[in-house]
Amino acid sequence: MAIKDKALEGCTALVTGGSRGIGRAICEALGARGATVAINFHSREDAARETAELVSKAGGNALLAGFDVGDAAAAAEGVKAVGKDHGLHILVNNAGIAINGLLMRFKPEDWDKVIATNLTGVFSCSKAATPYLLKAKTQGRLINLSSVVGENGNAGQTAYAAAKAGILGMTKSLAKEFASRGVTVNAVTPGFIATDMTDEHLPADQREALLSTIPLARIGDASDVADSVAFLAGPEASYITGQVLRVNGGLLM
Ligand SMILES: NC(=O)c1ccc[n+]([C@@H]2O[C@H](COP(=O)([O-])OP(=O)(O)OC[C@H]3O[C@@H](n4cnc5c(N)ncnc54)[C@H](OP(=O)(O)O)[C@@H]3O)[C@@H](O)[C@H]2O)c1
Repeated sequence: MAIKDKALEGCTALVTGGSRGIGRAICEALGARGATVAINFHSREDAARETAELVSKAGGNALLAGFDVGDAAAAAEGVKAVGKDHGLHILVNNAGIAINGLLMRFKPEDWDKVIATNLTGVFSCSKAATPYLLKAKTQGRLINLSSVVGENGNAGQTAYAAAKAGILGMTKSLAKEFASRGVTVNAVTPGFIATDMTDEHLPADQREALLSTIPLARIGDASDVADSVAFLAGPEASYITGQVLRVNGGLLM
């Protein structure tokens, strides 16, 4: 159900973690609205190239921007390179990892990895993008991928939940900081979406149990999340800021 009105023609969007999963679908959806999409990836340049083809097929322009969002210097440099060469109207902080485990056995180094990628990465990219987003004025959009887990918690996901909850606080604070320039800042909290992340981390029995708790009785598709992001990125969402859009099939109301 992608929006295909070309309202983002002339805008540049940077999507972190655009090589796979939800990020790839977001790149495609923004491309379908006519944006130039800078596709960030970390290790999978091959996958990012596939995303670029999908963006072009959808009607957008694509470019690659490889860097580790968890490396503050690399993230600042990578974001600035896009902004300097193409301008930057829309930043989608999507890159994320999940390392799960009960707290008693959870390694401090895994805590550091999850926080560095999922929370500090959002800080670093947002900070570097700020001058460009403020310049974009009412076209400026910062959209952060949090999670239902950031709002509701989940056993075995303390670090992930802490990072995703932190993103919500950051989103609301930046919404207040950027509002005077007409730049909006919102978060999307997906529920259970079929991607590599969920395939890798959820055993089949837990998957069935989870399905029974989703009122719409299906696992979400990456495009369900992407369409919401494409909406928030567009002119029709210009009076929406500091909000948390739940895309979860009713899992959390
Ligand atoms: N799937 C779900 O059910 C679900 C639910 C709620 C929230 N979310 C959130 O939605 C976002 C996307 O999740 P997903 O399911 O699409 O994940 P995914 O399929 O595992 O894809 C993760 C993406 O993040 C990129 N990435 C990971 N570490 C990175 C780093 N250090 N620097 C730059 N990019 C990095 C990966 O790049 P490479 O390909 O280069 O490795 C990949 O493009 C995440 O923030 C996740 O927490 C997902």
